[in-house]
Amino acid sequence: MASTVLLLIMAVAIHGGSDWSFASDTISANSPISGDRTVVSRGGKFELGFFSPAGGGGSNYYVGIWYKKVVSQRTPVWVANRAAPVADPASSRLAVAADGNLVLTNEAGKLVWSSNVSSASGSTAAALAVILDTGNLVLRREISGEVLWQSVEHPTDTWLPGVRLGMNKITGEITGEVQALVSWKNAGDPAPGMFTLGIDPNGSSQYFTKWNRTVTFWSSGEWKDGVFAGVPEMISHDKYDFEFVSDANANYFTYSLQDPTVISRLVLDVSGQVRQIMWAPSADEWMIIWTEPHRLCDVYAVCGAFGVCNGRSEPYCSCPAGFRPSSAGDWELGDHSHGCRRNNPPRCDGGGVNSSSVHGDGNGGDAFLPAPGVSLPRNSSSSPASSARDCELACLRSCNCTAYSYDSRCSLWYGGLLNLEDTGGAIDDLLYLRVSDMDVPSSKGRNRTVAFASTAAVASILALSIIVFVAVRMYRKR
Ligand SMILES: *[C@@H]1O[C@H](CO)[C@@H](O)[C@H](O)[C@H]1NC(C)=O
Ligand SMILES: *[C@@H]1O[C@H](CO)[C@@H](O)[C@H](O)[C@H]1NC(C)=O
Ligand SMILES: *[C@@H]1O[C@H](CO)[C@@H](O)[C@H](O)[C@H]1NC(C)=O
Ligand SMILES: *[C@@H]1O[C@H](CO)[C@@H](O)[C@H](O)[C@H]1NC(C)=O
Ligand SMILES: *[C@@H]1O[C@H](CO)[C@@H](O)[C@H](O)[C@H]1NC(C)=O
Ligand SMILES: *[C@@H]1O[C@H](CO)[C@@H](O)[C@H](O)[C@H]1NC(C)=O
Repeated sequence: MASTVLLLIMAVAIHGGSDWSFASDTISANSPISGDRTVVSRGGKFELGFFSPAGGGGSNYYVGIWYKKVVSQRTPVWVANRAAPVADPASSRLAVAADGNLVLTNEAGKLVWSSNVSSASGSTAAALAVILDTGNLVLRREISGEVLWQSVEHPTDTWLPGVRLGMNKITGEITGEVQALVSWKNAGDPAPGMFTLGIDPNGSSQYFTKWNRTVTFWSSGEWKDGVFAGVPEMISHDKYDFEFVSDANANYFTYSLQDPTVISRLVLDVSGQVRQIMWAPSADEWMIIWTEPHRLCDVYAVCGAFGVCNGRSEPYCSCPAGFRPSSAGDWELGDHSHGCRRNNPPRCDGGGVNSSSVHGDGNGGDAFLPAPGVSLPRNSSSSPASSARDCELACLRSCNCTAYSYDSRCSLWYGGLLNLEDTGGAIDDLLYLRVSDMDVPSSKGRNRTVAFASTAAVASILALSIIVFVAVRMYRKR
């Protein structure tokens, strides 16, 4: 009995001793991270280690930081090697290298990621990397404490409370460098995706969300009287404090929580929507506080070319009749950038169209399928055609015409159609999409199908309008 107690005391002493000499929040030259070993911030808020994203197939591993206290759903807030996964965490290592950089090597010992600071070298003083309760991983010199690199200056898709997101006007590796959030490629792959969020590089206080680094589709508006003009929701959230700073050195915005025990983050979602999210411990789930753009379907190219967005359903993207996802795997994981493609390629014989092919009589020509409930895309071209039939022919005659609609005037669309939206409401003008006639039932059958489809559409539109009407009434009453 006594010896058992003694053994226990010894075990505690040894364990305590190792904790003391080797803080469990620190990575150093002789305590790397590998396999299941993680480091945890001193207050137990954040953990750093290897992880494999849910939905990623389980064969790709990344070094990331996640909430220690959100146990039911591992939620990474930062990823080191986001575009360079390793296959075997047990033989991969995150360590402080001889030159003072934090480096990740894979199973073959090959360098896959580095903190890449030149100032780390040229000094023999050892460096340490420490994970903090703010979610920041800081690489600093062991003796002087000088900060060499920190993860919050290289965000991935998440903006944590207390972190500044903006641009350096003077300092930084590149003058005028803008820090941007970059969405994950899809739910299982943290590689850089299609969407970015960052401050205006021209120096205004606005933040922009962009698609493919070029198309700006959302702006926060200028900072004025403690809120961004385009985000009036900020006023009503008394749990947050906001601050915008513009001085000679930098422009940045930061937010904080009045109650430090609340877990909240801002993320640029795979969908392209910016979301302020809060952990609800009692419900054991993440709760969305606000989103920008407010409507998911307003994200540019949200469902890709020919994809149809419906913000009230889950999944919110679908392909119209005659189409299927271009890249089914990415589509399932929430990456819709490849959009939808036709089940069978349209023949598109470029102007040499015989009117017979319009009927879809199986001669291998092109035909049209209606997209009931789908709003007409912007940027139509008009054609002088004076009947639905002539309008259809006008579209068929042009190889790159992909859709038409006729309602006393003829509208034509060319190329891939973006931001098609299933409004669930009554649409006066029906959109017809060009498909291969192999995807259209035979002439008679097709007419029946169309008639049936439009009856069904009218019925479902009616049902939906009632639901929306009731929902709006209930919402207003609250
Ligand atoms: C490190 O920096 C160099 C040049 O500054 C760059 O070419 C390289 O891609 C960077 N490596 C990583 C892993 O960021
Ligand atoms: C930034 O400035 C450049 C040149 O002055 C201008 O062409 C560009 O449109 C500006 N961009 C924004 C977003 O204001
Ligand atoms: C995104 O931009 C790149 C180059 O700027 C271009 O090559 C690529 O096709 C674009 N992606 C899409 C889906 O349009
Ligand atoms: C169109 O139809 C005519 C006769 O019906 C035929 O001679 C001609 O080859 C057809 N043209 C094409 C491009 O199919
Ligand atoms: C409409 O066309 C204009 C010019 O052709 C283009 O700049 C704009 O981005 C287009 N808008 C959409 C929604 O495609
Ligand atoms: C359609 O494609 C032709 C070439 O194939 C091109 O000359 C024409 O400008 C295109 N039209 C539109 C509206 O994109």
